[in-house]
Amino acid sequence: MSVNPVRPVLWEIDRVRLIDQNRLPQECTWVEINRSDEMANAITTMIVRGAPAIGVAAAYGMYLGAREVEADSPTEFIRGMEKIATKLKATRPTAVNLFWAIDKMMEVVKAQPGNLPGILAAAKQINADDIRTCEAIGDHGVAALPKTPGKLRLLTHCNAGALATAGYGTALGVVRSAWRDGRLERLYADETRPRLQGAKLTTWECVQEGIPVTLLSDNMAGHCMVKGMIDAVVVGADRITANGDAANKIGTYSLALVAQAHNVPFFVAAPLSTIDFSLANGSLIEIEERDTKEVSHVGATVICPKGVEFFNPAFDVTPARLIAGIITEFGTFAPADLIQLKDQA
Ligand code: MRU
Repeated sequence: MSVNPVRPVLWEIDRVRLIDQNRLPQECTWVEINRSDEMANAITTMIVRGAPAIGVAAAYGMYLGAREVEADSPTEFIRGMEKIATKLKATRPTAVNLFWAIDKMMEVVKAQPGNLPGILAAAKQINADDIRTCEAIGDHGVAALPKTPGKLRLLTHCNAGALATAGYGTALGVVRSAWRDGRLERLYADETRPRLQGAKLTTWECVQEGIPVTLLSDNMAGHCMVKGMIDAVVVGADRITANGDAANKIGTYSLALVAQAHNVPFFVAAPLSTIDFSLANGSLIEIEERDTKEVSHVGATVICPKGVEFFNPAFDVTPARLIAGIITEFGTFAPADLIQLKDQA
């Protein structure tokens, strides 16, 4: 089946168009973004989400900001852009791709202050590079997956797909490449409470492309592994530290523990832009806490009595010792060997 590839962030003539991920899977609609503060709001409210995708969106946000800055000198222009960068960086704290992309854009701004076409070209480059990077991750991932007698049954958590990147996806990129190569029997997708990215987004991407997908609630993985239904787990990451610890959507750590208990290999798929060599280990990663309504409600319905308290960390950290391999655009690395990539960063 030939389908149009999913591209959640698009540059169109003079503005950005974002797929409104809060409305999927009921409807696939687009939001137009003309200003940097609209982009900051789209990232905060998760119209656009997923570590690489928010990096790409923020890069365009920097260009939109460059159009807004009124400056009489290069120094004033840079000062104005620093304010835009600060605003965009304040949207979400955990995914390092956001900071990586904004810093990259700031380098261009400082090298050629006021050169709007140059700044737009840099954002477009980050966008295009991310798609190629994800395709490479997908292909390296297929090579790293276990060589089973039959086709592979993979399990993923959250959405690390085309929607979470510029296109193709990281963990879901591995799934896509395995499907393309005839090596995939089925994907099992965790629903991923509280925001249900697995149920709403990962299954949507699979259905678009005819990839067989089974939705699990978050507490089913252990049972499925006992029953021998899962050959490997592949997830994405929001930030990986120098020692190979990986922050990803809340629930990933528990999944990694269950996988270890059943000798199911647990892979993390992520681009170099997700690796933060400045942090020694995962305990140093800032974990975003979101509105507790995400926990107390499902949709518009409250699911608990009055008087209950809530806790809503959006991410957790899987320690390196639980990770069989980190799949990057440069190949698959044992967590301890990740440091070999430091010079490329
Ligand atoms: O809160 P979200 O939906 O932005 O979280 C997304 C994830 O945790 C993804 O797994 C991660 O960003 C990797 S995306 C390729």
